[in-house]
Amino acid sequence: HPVLAGKRHMSEKNSLVILVVTPGCDQFPSLESVENYTLTVNDEQCFLLSETVWGALRGLETFSQLVWRSPEGTFYINKTEIEDFPRFPHRGLLLDTSRHYLPLASILDTLDVMAYNKFNVFHWHLVDDSSFPYESFTFPNLTKKGSYNPATHIYTAQDVKEVIEYARLRGIRVLAEFDTPGHTLSWGPGVPGLLTPCYSGSHPSGTFGPVNPALNNTYEFMSTFFLEISSVFPDFYLHLGGDEVDFTCWKSNPDIQAFMKKKGFGEDFKKLESFYIQTLLDIVSAYGKGYVVWQEVFDNKVKVQPDTVIQVWREEMPVRYMKEMELVTSAGFRALLSAPWYLNHITYGPDWKNIYMVEPLAFEGSPEQKALVIGGEACMWGEYVDSTNLVPRLWPRAGAVAERLWSNKMVTNLDFAYKRLAHFRCELLRRGVQAQPLSVGYCDVEFEQT
Ligand SMILES: *[C@@H]1O[C@H](CO)[C@@H](O)[C@H](O)[C@H]1NC(C)=O
Ligand SMILES: *[C@@H]1O[C@H](CO)[C@@H](O)[C@H](O)[C@H]1NC(C)=O
Ligand SMILES: *[C@@H]1O[C@H](CO)[C@@H](O)[C@H](O)[C@H]1NC(C)=O
Ligand SMILES: *[C@@H]1O[C@H](CO)[C@@H](O)[C@H](O)[C@H]1NC(C)=O
Repeated sequence: HPVLAGKRHMSEKNSLVILVVTPGCDQFPSLESVENYTLTVNDEQCFLLSETVWGALRGLETFSQLVWRSPEGTFYINKTEIEDFPRFPHRGLLLDTSRHYLPLASILDTLDVMAYNKFNVFHWHLVDDSSFPYESFTFPNLTKKGSYNPATHIYTAQDVKEVIEYARLRGIRVLAEFDTPGHTLSWGPGVPGLLTPCYSGSHPSGTFGPVNPALNNTYEFMSTFFLEISSVFPDFYLHLGGDEVDFTCWKSNPDIQAFMKKKGFGEDFKKLESFYIQTLLDIVSAYGKGYVVWQEVFDNKVKVQPDTVIQVWREEMPVRYMKEMELVTSAGFRALLSAPWYLNHITYGPDWKNIYMVEPLAFEGSPEQKALVIGGEACMWGEYVDSTNLVPRLWPRAGAVAERLWSNKMVTNLDFAYKRLAHFRCELLRRGVQAQPLSVGYCDVEFEQT
């Protein structure tokens, strides 16, 4: 096997040796998983060393991206010595499967490309106002009456298992979100009485608002529902939503008004929201789960447990997002950043540059505060996205977020990033991913044909 100057000829004679110190192929990745690895390629060996299987997976991905092919068709890898580890432990991508249903294959394909980008959390925003595709075995009517089509547009228990296992094998956690008390219109038909009837004057108007926080039945339902969810999704964390609760319907309803009075909440509907969310968080923590919530839960001063993770998503309102990061961490909460990474927002031109140049720790605060930032998430909300345009809208732009969350803070050169991202986009095409172009240019013809 010829070893050329500075590079190594890949053939069956020289293989990659992988050493994983602690076995763990049967485990699930977690927020605490170590993903460090070292990769050595020299005349003697190709050697990948990691403490964990998760680090080995990351190192294998790096290895595969280092292999290149000469015009004659020979595969090479250049000599190198890499010591690599992530900057943040939570590097997520959110998919919304409620506004549009995404076929199982779209989700699995996305998990593949996430692994190419070293993302390690799939935030699955399963349900929302528009549809309820998650098939619950305790409450089958949720999907029967709340999905777009209960025969085709649902995720069965088997589908969910497959997503979790497919993700696990790629070192990706599945963070399931069941957002309440707002964003729940699709829950209504399957669970009569769950949502608040809105009133117009002294009569119900026939429309519904957020989950009804005044009824014991609501909490009984949530206890049973989240018992199921806690066992179906193995990750320690669940995402409980809590964003954008509209108080208008609650305000209109006389039963809610009476409940407010009884509880001594006055006219402060944030207190009612807090009451609901606190009760829900108590239910979920009794099942041994941790939780992530959207920033409104913090903004509205809901009393939450100190280990709650707050996801910052609003660009302004009440303050710029970096100020929000400062406030969240100064209150001692762990934070996830998403506000600048809404990939469903598109503009003409190389918008990946703004995505890339965000520095998640660029807020006023002590080192202790900065240490509370566990990472961030790119979000792909589904109002204008389904399986026809998901892939090009995600890739390679999401890669800019992935690098920001993995690489050292000092890695910020845009020209260098452009070269690598453009090359990587061609590599994605070669792997069969219909990633969109970053700018004018071309990939090798053979790639474009595949
Ligand atoms: C991973 O690498 C970082 C940077 O060298 C180091 O701080 C950390 O201790 C390493 N973790 C483990 C478990 O080796
Ligand atoms: C490998 O090294 C050669 C020089 O020997 C260089 O031209 C090439 O860009 C390198 N390729 C990669 C993938 O690092
Ligand atoms: C589900 O809906 C059907 C049809 O409306 C109804 O007969 C049944 O009682 C509901 N099941 C539950 C558990 O609510
Ligand atoms: C709801 O439960 C609480 C506590 O168990 C009880 O005090 C209250 O009377 C119940 N309310 C209704 C309307 O059943």
